Amino acid sequence: MGLAAATANAAPIVIKFSHVVAEKTPKGQGALKFKELAEAALPGEVEVQVFPNSQLFGDGKEMEALLLGDVQIIAPSLAKFDRYTKKLQIFDLPFMFSDMEALDRFQSSPQGQELLDSMQSKGIQGLAYWHNGLKQLSTNKDKLILPSDVKGLKFRIQSSDVLEAQFRQLDANPQKLAFSEVYQALQTGVVDGAENPWSNIYSQKFYEVQKTIAETNHGALDYMVITNAGWWQELPEHVRTELKKAMDGATQHANQLAAEINAHDKKAIGEAGKAKIQSLSKEDLAVWREAMQPVWQKFEGDIGKDIIEAASLSNG
Ligand code: LMR
Repeated sequence: MGLAAATANAAPIVIKFSHVVAEKTPKGQGALKFKELAEAALPGEVEVQVFPNSQLFGDGKEMEALLLGDVQIIAPSLAKFDRYTKKLQIFDLPFMFSDMEALDRFQSSPQGQELLDSMQSKGIQGLAYWHNGLKQLSTNKDKLILPSDVKGLKFRIQSSDVLEAQFRQLDANPQKLAFSEVYQALQTGVVDGAENPWSNIYSQKFYEVQKTIAETNHGALDYMVITNAGWWQELPEHVRTELKKAMDGATQHANQLAAEINAHDKKAIGEAGKAKIQSLSKEDLAVWREAMQPVWQKFEGDIGKDIIEAASLSNG
């Protein structure tokens, strides 16, 4: 058999892409777009299998699975990298970015792009940033206007020391829980509240088990799409090049959809009439900002002043 025939008959490279959210979210749509573009560019050479909703691996397991080679691509939220680098904690400092455009500017800046390579020594290669949206605070209480309204309440948080400090600063009790456990924890009162972008509140039906969602926009929830650095380097060069292009296309697609999906989902939550959406005045927001501000100082040393400065500049 000639080389061409051998190559044609070779089994495709299987790329498992696992994530924890629903398909109708920015990340869910981005993953499907990546599959479409990668398989179109490398017909018969790659097969991308997408596993949404923590079907294959949930939080806590997916990073380990990536390092073991059991999954090739995952896209954890930027809050979930504490164990691998402290620098990404920049993304969770409360009120760090004035809006999603500012966040996008920082991610596209040289400092933001450098962070994609910041975990290579741990075997992790960042491929792209994907947007979701700004986080809203929700509780099972009727009143949620000021920080004093969350005092003593239990909040589910992602596995992040910054988010833990943020809720402690509000005299609330943060509890780290995997995303797949949040609905039940809210439903049964294991926790009173949570913080999520509209798309996660809607697609996971959190609005059914919360009374009030305050429009705090106090932080962002975005993702880093990552792969196993060793596996990535060992791919044939043309495959890596095409996968990179497919990732760029998927990134554009997900990021364009993110604002649209979040706006749609906010509206749908309002129309469902189950949880009240509480808008906040500029003055109220200033009180939240001030209450959370001390968190910055706590993490400045770990993150680095240079990164905080670059991120601040992106606010324009
Ligand atoms: C969360 O755990 O709340 C989020 O990271 C889930 C996600 O991937 O959007």
